[in-house]
Amino acid sequence: MERTYVMVKPDGVQRQLVGEIISRFERKGLKIAGLKLMQIPRSLAEEHYGEHKGKSFFAPLVDYITSGPVVAMVLEGKDAVSTAREMMGATNPLQAAPGTIRGTYGMDIGRNVIHGSDSPASAEREINLFFRPEELVSYDRSLDRWIY
Ligand code: TYD
Ligand code: MG
Repeated sequence: MERTYVMVKPDGVQRQLVGEIISRFERKGLKIAGLKLMQIPRSLAEEHYGEHKGKSFFAPLVDYITSGPVVAMVLEGKDAVSTAREMMGATNPLQAAPGTIRGTYGMDIGRNVIHGSDSPASAEREINLFFRPEELVSYDRSLDRWIY
C-alpha cells in the first residue's frame, strides 16, 4: 500500500470544507494514517514548496499557506498518490474537471483549497516534513476486503 500527503489549505479550513474533503477520501476507500490541524511555520512552508523558490508566485504562496491553520493528513491505499491527485483536479481550478475537489470548490489558482503530493518520492519527503513517525498509525479496517 502507498501513502500520500494531503492538506486542506487555509482557505479550505476557513470555508469549512474540512469535513466535506475528508469525507470524499473516506468514501473513496483511502485510509487515514495521520491527521492534524496545524499552523505551518514560515520555514516549513518554504521547505515544503522549495521546488518553486525563485518563481513569481513563491512569496504569495508562502504567505497564503501560512495565513491560517491547515489540516494535514496522510492517506493510505492502492496508488494513493495518483488517486488523491485525480480527486483533487488540476492546479488551476479553471482547468480542474467538474466534480473534482478543486473543480467543485475553487475559483482561483492562488486559493485552490487542497494540496496533494505529486509522486511517491514527493509523498515520502512531505510526510517526513509534516509528521513524526509516531504520529502515523497502522490499523486494520474490516471493510478492506470490500474495497480490494
Ligand atoms: P504546483 O506544485 O505547480 O501545483 P500543485 O499544487 O497542483 O502540485 O504549485 C504549488 C501551488 O502554487 C499551487 O497549488 C498553487 C500555486 N501556484 C500559483 O499560485 N501560481 C502558479 O502559476 C502555479 C503553477 C502554482
Ligand atoms: Mg505540487
